[in-house]
Amino acid sequence: MKINTDYNSGLENNLILNDSLLILPKIEAHSVDHCITDPPYNISGYDGKKKIGWLKSNGYWTGEKNFNKVDEKWDSFSNKTYEDFTQVWLKEIFRIIKPNGNIIIFGSHHNIFKIASILEKEGKKILNFITWYKRNAFPNITHRMLCDSTEFIIWAVNNSQKEAKNWTFNYDALKKLNQIKKCDKCKKTLDSNYKYCPFCGNNNLKSINLQMRNMWDVLGTPTTERRQGKHPTQKPIEIIKRIVIGATKEKDIIIDPFAGSGTLPLVTQKYKRRYIAIEKEKEFYELITKRLQANEQLNIQDW
Ligand SMILES: C[S@@+](CC[C@H](N)C(=O)[O-])C[C@H]1O[C@@H](n2cnc3c(N)ncnc32)[C@H](O)[C@@H]1O
Repeated sequence: MKINTDYNSGLENNLILNDSLLILPKIEAHSVDHCITDPPYNISGYDGKKKIGWLKSNGYWTGEKNFNKVDEKWDSFSNKTYEDFTQVWLKEIFRIIKPNGNIIIFGSHHNIFKIASILEKEGKKILNFITWYKRNAFPNITHRMLCDSTEFIIWAVNNSQKEAKNWTFNYDALKKLNQIKKCDKCKKTLDSNYKYCPFCGNNNLKSINLQMRNMWDVLGTPTTERRQGKHPTQKPIEIIKRIVIGATKEKDIIIDPFAGSGTLPLVTQKYKRRYIAIEKEKEFYELITKRLQANEQLNIQDW
């Protein structure tokens, strides 16, 4: 397998095995259209966090249920180093992305406020705060709090609140992806899973397309998307597909400085966008390469 460790602006796509903090400064200012990324959330080891001894002591969850909490070296920072790290990579992203390009970042309650606060301090225009609801989330086994079943996505524009204009927002394409049912009789719009109308009992339901809302009900990554190998925080294609289709145009260059298993480059390849994907772990870099190769043999209708 050929391994590429540096950025080359002459290439159609860049897949780079390296630390983003070393590669981002090499990329020319305002040369990339958008950033879509899923950085470390720092759920593995922030200051004061209890270690996961209680989980390890319970063989039922780790053994029978095969439950593993994210506990990765690449995701382990002190609160202070996490904030510094986030500042550094985000500042580079603001420099690299074209004015009015989209900057779309994933997070959980552990880190999303830190990211939002930097965007606010920099005065960036925030378009949407999307809640991703995972209805198949693993139950909270401590029975001491609600089951955490959401993640968040901030959609910002690389410009100030006042100056931001003409950002890419593909309204019609997103609407086309959002097919739901409408009752022919009482005219209520319904969640797509219904076989009959829960309001009037009518089973004559019509499929319609509706403007997409900022709450996305998408299952966690299915096993079919892990055929080439596993990544502990792999995002489902469905989520990344909505963002790529909704926020970018064909041929746009999209950067993901924390590529993981490569869901972003995979979707950009499928939808004829270009990518700069950086991942510092060799194991995951190889997984991305395998997923991209397998993807080339698939039909767009497959997903
Ligand atoms: C949350 S995961 C991304 C998962 C990805 N969205 C997917 O669908 O598979 C973050 C990834 O960033 C990588 N990473 C962390 N720090 C990095 C750095 N400084 N430079 C490059 N990659 C980094 C980790 O190895 C990890 O694979």
